[in-house]
This record gives sequence, C-alpha cells and structure tokens, in this order.
Amino acid sequence: MKNNLRSPLSGLLLLLLLLISSCTTSTFEDLIPVEETDPSEIITYQDVRSTFDNICSACHTNPPQNSAPMPLVTYLNVKEAVLNRDLLDRISRNEGADGLMPFGGPRLPQQTIDKIFQWNEDGLLEN
Ligand code: HEC
Repeated sequence: MKNNLRSPLSGLLLLLLLLISSCTTSTFEDLIPVEETDPSEIITYQDVRSTFDNICSACHTNPPQNSAPMPLVTYLNVKEAVLNRDLLDRISRNEGADGLMPFGGPRLPQQTIDKIFQWNEDGLLEN
C-alpha cells in the first residue's frame, strides 16, 4: 500500500532531479572562462590597459606626478615605454628591489605580469 502511494511521487522526484542536474551541468560549462583556456588567443593593449589605467596612473599621468618621468596614459605612451624604457624589466623585478614598478610596490600579480609579457610577444598590438 505504501509503495503504491510513493511511486508516483518518487517518479516525479527522479524527473526533477534529472532536470536539475542537466541544468547544473550546462551552467557549469558556461562558467569556464574562455580567456584562460584558449592559449592561441592574441593579447592586445585592450587586455592589459586596465593595469596602466588603474595602477600606474597614480603617478604616470599626463603631466606625470610624484617625479615619474613620463605618462603611461595612451597606447603609444605604454608601447614606447616597453620599447625604450625597460618597462618589462621594471615590472618583473623582485618585491622590494630597486626600481620595481609600481614604485614602492607591491609587485603586480604574476598573472598580470605574464599577460603584459605575452602582449609584447604578440607584437604590442593596439586592438
Ligand atoms: C607612486 C608613483 C609611481 C607609480 C604608481 C608607478 N611609477 Fe613608474 N616611476 C615612478 C618614478 C618616481 C619613476 C622614476 C624613478 C625610477 O626610474 O625608478 C618611475 C619610473 C618608471 C619607469 C622608468 C622610466 C625611465 O625612463 O627610466 C618605468 C618603465 C615605469 N616607471 C613604469 C611604471 C609602470 C608600468 C607602473 C605601473 C605598473 C608604474 N611605473 C607605476 C613612479 C611611479
């Protein structure tokens, strides 16, 4: 008797579970960031500019402040600093080392440094 009452209910529960788990699976796949999983992606200035806009701009504005020697405001500013002002070397020095940028630290996250190096390897494209 009990079984007769329970089976339609458990059938419904099973169906619900199936629905929920199939939804969960596709949602999870949607959440995997494409950025991180595609090594063939080309890094452009648009992918790295937030660091210059948000962190370096505390001093490397136009005109520069706090004794910074040049602005890092535009694509050309930053590209020029990579080519002629050792920007890549300055951001990859050890924590606390002389000349590390951002000035006074802390060092940028390694992932950000790697991305800026990748931008250089990909040809310092603007877009
Ligand atoms: C708190 C102010 C400040 C911040 C923030 C800062 N800088 Fe600097 N930067 C300076 C000063 C001051 C100098 C000049 C002294 C020196 O060369 O170490 C300088 C020099 C440099 C130089 C060498 C320029 C040359 O011609 O020798 C580079 C490249 C540079 N900064 C890049 C950056 C980058 C990239 C960031 C952001 C990740 C950054 N800086 C953040 C103050 C700052």
